[in-house]
Amino acid sequence: MSPGKKIIGTVNQKEIVKMYASYVSKYKAGFFESLGLGVVQGERKGLTIKMLEGVNNGESPLEIIDCHTSGGVFNLGHHHPEINKALHEGLENGLDIGDHHLLSEQRALLAKQLADLFPGDISKTMFSVGGGEAIDLAIKLSRAFTKQKKIISANRAYHGVTGFALGACASSFKDPFLWSLPDFKQVPFADIESFRKIIDEKTACVLFETIPATGGILIPPEGYFAEVRELCDDMGVVMIADEVQAGLGRTGQMWGIFGGLYPDEKIVPDIIVLAKGMSSGVYPLSTTSYKPKFEEVFEEDPFLHISTTGGSELGCYVTRKMLDIISQPEFLKHVQTVGSQFGKGLVDLQEKYSEKIVDVRGRGLMWGIELVDEFTSLYFTLTMIKNGVFCDYCGNYKSTNKFLPPLIIQPEDIDVILQRVDKTLEKIG
Ligand SMILES: Cc1ncc(COP(=O)(O)O)c(C=O)c1O
Repeated sequence: MSPGKKIIGTVNQKEIVKMYASYVSKYKAGFFESLGLGVVQGERKGLTIKMLEGVNNGESPLEIIDCHTSGGVFNLGHHHPEINKALHEGLENGLDIGDHHLLSEQRALLAKQLADLFPGDISKTMFSVGGGEAIDLAIKLSRAFTKQKKIISANRAYHGVTGFALGACASSFKDPFLWSLPDFKQVPFADIESFRKIIDEKTACVLFETIPATGGILIPPEGYFAEVRELCDDMGVVMIADEVQAGLGRTGQMWGIFGGLYPDEKIVPDIIVLAKGMSSGVYPLSTTSYKPKFEEVFEEDPFLHISTTGGSELGCYVTRKMLDIISQPEFLKHVQTVGSQFGKGLVDLQEKYSEKIVDVRGRGLMWGIELVDEFTSLYFTLTMIKNGVFCDYCGNYKSTNKFLPPLIIQPEDIDVILQRVDKTLEKIG
């Protein structure tokens, strides 16, 4: 720490917006300006983000409860003291990114910790920086292992903007880039009949988010993933679970696919992909973890897939601390308790505003409320931010707003969020 040193807020909002428009993106700057919001993030701590300025450049800075958390990046809130301590400790004790060709103590320790937490025999991990890169590797492994090309994903999916991951996304993300390959097939999520029709022996892998987030916080019926697993087994197809948002305790269980959706439905996929929350909000890190059989892909060339900055030793050290915290049974119990309080509160509001809310869906601390139409939903997001809660509409299901608060949230904070949802619903027409 350098007491007295000011880094945040050295330039005022107007200037930042101008610079952003000139040197980063005039469209993004224009979008936020047109909403009349305090748009530049300032100090953040725990659950809250303080904007540099207020609504419509109002006097007091807008302070919002972070229910966006960048999709779970801030699972432990902002600047969790133990995470900050681990980051400093790692740096002060000689860790840096590390050389990616050499073996690494930190990578080995983190991989072992993950193997102990994963279900079944998922026990090997490779490291990347972001989620898209980690999904790319999962698809590469599936193709190299099965020697098949076909990839099946959901038609509202989001898996990242890199090559293979982009191919598995909803068309809205790829059409502008003329991205079309015949081997990437998509089906409606949770529709087992469509899935049955498309899976065959020529399929390399099936890739689903356990709870599609950008796709609208969709909860599949009980038995869906069990049947997907069975069909994959029958046809020798690799099952990949994208747990980038639904993993790491978000559902109140360690893994969404293993008991997080339904307590009795514990599915062991072949590959699990993690990102976002793995960073603890301070050091980007993502992982592709798989059953030992996939290792044969690297038998001839162990350097076939590498990532120079993926699996930074400093990042691994911080992630190990994060896993120590979230894997405690009492931590997961806490997520279950406040999660049901939140879900129940939203369902009560659905009853009160039945003409505005069509559906409430979720698990643990991952909730979506579907509003009557897209316009109402966009207006809801904007009004919620002005009322001090940062939630957002789902990019591929715009009539739904999603809430992913930090997992450390307390019952009294949930009450405040629910009061603000109530106030917002009362206002919007
Ligand atoms: C479910 C899911 N998978 C993968 C990704 C890609 O992660 P990243 O943005 O780190 O590449 C995202 C990002 O939002 C995601 O939500």
